[in-house]
Amino acid sequence: LDVVHFTAELAPIAKVGGLGDVVHGLARTCLARGHNVTVIMPFYECLPQDQIEGLGFDMDIEVPKGKSWDGEIQLTTLKTAVYRGVIGGVPVILVRPADWDACNLFRGGRIYGGSYNELESYLYFCRAGLEYLRCSGQQPHILHLHEWQTCAAALLYWEVYSALGLYRPRVVLTIHNLDNTGECRQDEFAFTGIDGEQFATIERALDERTIGHNPERLNLMKGGMVYSNAVTTVSPTYAKEVLSGMQAGWLRSTLMRPEVNSKVRGILNGIDVEEWDPARDELLPANFSAQFPDGKALCKKYLQRGLGLDESPDKPVVAVITRLVPQKGIHLIKAALFRCLDKGAQFVLLGSGHCDGEFKAMAEQQFKDHKDIRLLVMYSESLAHQIYAAADIILVPSMFEPCGLTQMIGMRYGAVPVVRKTGGLADTVRDVDSHAPGEANGYTFDGTDEGSLHGALDRALTHFKEQRASWSEFCATNMNPRLALTHFKEQRASWTELSATNMNTEL
Ligand code: GLC
Repeated sequence: LDVVHFTAELAPIAKVGGLGDVVHGLARTCLARGHNVTVIMPFYECLPQDQIEGLGFDMDIEVPKGKSWDGEIQLTTLKTAVYRGVIGGVPVILVRPADWDACNLFRGGRIYGGSYNELESYLYFCRAGLEYLRCSGQQPHILHLHEWQTCAAALLYWEVYSALGLYRPRVVLTIHNLDNTGECRQDEFAFTGIDGEQFATIERALDERTIGHNPERLNLMKGGMVYSNAVTTVSPTYAKEVLSGMQAGWLRSTLMRPEVNSKVRGILNGIDVEEWDPARDELLPANFSAQFPDGKALCKKYLQRGLGLDESPDKPVVAVITRLVPQKGIHLIKAALFRCLDKGAQFVLLGSGHCDGEFKAMAEQQFKDHKDIRLLVMYSESLAHQIYAAADIILVPSMFEPCGLTQMIGMRYGAVPVVRKTGGLADTVRDVDSHAPGEANGYTFDGTDEGSLHGALDRALTHFKEQRASWSEFCATNMNPRLALTHFKEQRASWTELSATNMNTEL
């Protein structure tokens, strides 16, 4: 199968969260199974170009683009430079305006950052990606879109490109998080190059197909759901939460419509167990595996020493590696920190995000040089690896979590997950108290209050302290991907194949 992904992120070099990891892992796995996979993404100015193998110019294309001016939409084309290369084994097509100085799209030091022209950038990107496929004559079987940034491609495909009859892929949209759905005004949609009249047609179509949306604004994720053949989200439980309206946010009524509802499926994410392999990870001071676990103790000692913590093998290291945003359960992360203090455990946090102010202040004052607490308010891929390898417990107390990768990476690196039972966390972590030995792999709690968190965290800490032999066995079981991880190899690639053969071409 020929599969083309449209994405705003791709690990390891254009990554903000799990989206980048998942697209990269999925692409690699499908490639390994013999499919043709290409990832089309923006050529961000901040990309470390030395990490793109064989980066080279491919072609210039003229991309239709519009701008609203005094109530009128002016249509032009924007000369776009297309490059190709390989990122971490995955073939990529990178698009950007040919004259970067004339327009500021995809510039700056970070890939997002809420810049004023983010919307313009991604709407243009969707058109550019499709235009590239048309010009290069590629005929993918599947056009796989991810998140709101690429949703306009679904609308554009059906409204513009399918009519040209140039290619007829099945369009699949994966929702990684419904918290951000991307909204724009009608006139802003002209950045895609579709003028007012065509746009009105889309709006009418949306109105017929969906109810309750803000008439002033076009919701890109909603458009993506309506115009895709299939919609997936990243875990079965999150799919249920979304379809029941619990986590559907503004798109509740859209998701309730049978024609949308029936095409949503939850397919559990996995981690790339070759990328995340403590036996081969070059960022670790020592390697280890379920069969040869000794290196983990060295990793713990190395981290404790490096961070200036008490070098005790008997103090459990509780780690939180996260974006610091409300979704991640900020109040519970703080509660866990203080619980660790009370219980004689160590607490290491690595993360940043718009809720990080309080953690920065605590790091600089209250817990500066503390022997058991370290708050690292930053983003660091190498530190993340070292913390996973050193941690005894990985804590993920999210308020909601479409899938979550940290609990799976933690398990792979011999840490036991303590998680709130929501979304993908509920699908990947099975509590010791309610599952048979061998099946259980962590500790879970339900509530959003501190008491619930304490219940699960305390059980895990007691297990670590009082039954070290059984704890070690537990970690070893978790590290074996066959037993503990549901990953792409079994899940996603097979579904992609299935979807191509089973789905109707028409909406
Ligand atoms: C988003 C979700 C997270 C998921 C990731 C990859 O970041 O918040 O739960 O694991 O996407 O799909």
